[in-house]
Amino acid sequence: MIIIKQADAFNQWRKKESLSVGFVPTMGALHRGHLSLVKKSMAMCNKTVVSIFLNPTQFGPNEDFESYPKTIESDIRLLHSAGVNVLFLPNEKEMYSRVASVQIPESPLFKKLEGKSRPHFFFGVTTIVAKLFNIINPSHTFFGKKDAQQLIIVERLIQKMKYSIKMIPVETERDANGLALSSRNQYLNGSQQKEASLIFKGLTKIKKNIINGEKNCKVLKKIFIEFISKNKNFNIDYISIADMETLEELIEIPSKSYLVSTAIFFKNIRLIDNFDYSQLDT
Ligand code: PAF
Repeated sequence: MIIIKQADAFNQWRKKESLSVGFVPTMGALHRGHLSLVKKSMAMCNKTVVSIFLNPTQFGPNEDFESYPKTIESDIRLLHSAGVNVLFLPNEKEMYSRVASVQIPESPLFKKLEGKSRPHFFFGVTTIVAKLFNIINPSHTFFGKKDAQQLIIVERLIQKMKYSIKMIPVETERDANGLALSSRNQYLNGSQQKEASLIFKGLTKIKKNIINGEKNCKVLKKIFIEFISKNKNFNIDYISIADMETLEELIEIPSKSYLVSTAIFFKNIRLIDNFDYSQLDT
């Protein structure tokens, strides 16, 4: 694996690659979830590039930019043994003063779900992802379904900016208790992670009720809220059942194309999880 820190140097590498290049953007603190994106890329593409860049513009003033877990040595070891071809590891100056700025068309989707609590978030994500796409110029990119709204918004970004990049969504990796893997889980110890799997259990309750024929979204959300609220350590930011295209809240469960998603504060850590209509049998 080679490590490249500058866009110009990456350009030199990229010019020599005429076959498919898969790209997995990350902010580091890598876990099994990231590695499943890497594995998928390696299975589908001739070369795999991973970036690690902790992007300041997607964090709000009172969020965890400073304390976000940083595990660069073990990240490099993991990527190296996974067989990644290039790690792109730029610094802030490289990404924000040396790489050209991009004008991202704002989408109403930025203000839905995550965007309500984190209004800056999707501006930061789309800005950095566009800059990375411009540098890496991948044929494929791999995003986890755990960040469902991010995945939907980046898909739209690809369409709007007319990038010739194929988006490959990858299933959420979970621990043995069902907790969705996230770099932020590192803030929690073992027993707290076990407790946090209540979020997955709450979503599974909604899923079972949908399978049993409940279609009323208000009823389904109430079941979730009552279940989670029994544990006083949890504070629900939102529970949403929304159309997958528009992210507008639904009144009734349609036959397809809906997303059930939640964000919950547990011990002041904001955790997100979701499932969509295609995952009813998982
Ligand atoms: O999902 C993430 O880790 C980040 O939002 C991303 C896509 C790497 C952009 O900084």
